[in-house]
Amino acid sequence: MKVKLKNVFVIYFLVSVIGLMYALLQLGQPCDCTQHLKSASDLIHAKEKKLSQLQNELKRLQGREKVPEPAEQALPVIYAVTPTYARLVQKAELVRLSQTLLHVKNLHWIVVEDAPAKTQLVSELLAQSHLRFTHLHTETPKEHKRKESDPNWLKPRGVEQRNLALQWLRENHELGKKAVVYFADDDNTYSLRLFDEIRSTKRVSVWPVGLVGGLRFERPLVENSKVVGFYTAWKPNRPFPMDMAGFAVALDLLLANREAHFDLLAERGYLESSLLQSLVSIEELEPKADNCTKVLVWHTRTEKPKMKQEELLQKQGLGSDPSIEV
Ligand SMILES: *[C@@H]1O[C@H](CO)[C@@H](O)[C@H](O)[C@H]1NC(C)=O
Repeated sequence: MKVKLKNVFVIYFLVSVIGLMYALLQLGQPCDCTQHLKSASDLIHAKEKKLSQLQNELKRLQGREKVPEPAEQALPVIYAVTPTYARLVQKAELVRLSQTLLHVKNLHWIVVEDAPAKTQLVSELLAQSHLRFTHLHTETPKEHKRKESDPNWLKPRGVEQRNLALQWLRENHELGKKAVVYFADDDNTYSLRLFDEIRSTKRVSVWPVGLVGGLRFERPLVENSKVVGFYTAWKPNRPFPMDMAGFAVALDLLLANREAHFDLLAERGYLESSLLQSLVSIEELEPKADNCTKVLVWHTRTEKPKMKQEELLQKQGLGSDPSIEV
């Protein structure tokens, strides 16, 4: 049979018209679209949920560290160096200190653990502290480590840890940015006023420390705004008879004296002197806290908690839940 061009056109025309009519009918028909709408709204819901998760994450990240105001950034940075080691009261001490430091403007906390690795306890505490921080660790060599039974004056603690912080500062300081370094142990009590005094340190500043050396306080003696001696009862002939909490050092001075460090082998009571001797003379010390007449830091010590009941219960397999951090 011969296919006529005319017939082809007719069939094409008919198919088109039928198709068009079907399409028009479908348009008028109320379709069952609830299924479509439901899945679309599910999708929007899921996206909204994701968005709010991201917003929370952003808030958390922003909340992690206080963002300093421009005026705050112009202040010299205070680097607070805190050596720390694992013990029952460690978390309590670090929480207390961190919450004091939160009130100090433009502060950078350098926490150095005496441990073979960073611990989870300290890592999480720092992450949640809202402070600008650097977390380091170094283990004190066995032969220099103080045993639990040793009296606390036998070997100085935190020597290698403070030296590691000094090394970090020398390698990581921001060029041209003024900064002051203060060795803030985790067991002391600090007045916020102390940090105002620390911030203006030019070379090495000094002030009294309360409840130390078997006295109500130890302090530098000041005449005509110059340090002329020290009020102390214990080993008064030390070059700098001062507690770690009683001085701060300008970072510039530490950078200019790259060898200055704490001596691990320093005789008892001579640790502070081992650093300061290579940095300043007595006459150069800058007296703070109203010519060293105000006590703004206290050498408090937290009592070692008694665990007698805990140990008894542990022997019976009834010790407290170890998954709960203290
Ligand atoms: C420190 O003492 C000197 C006098 O020896 C005095 O001029 C100065 O105002 C005092 N400074 C403070 C902060 O009290």
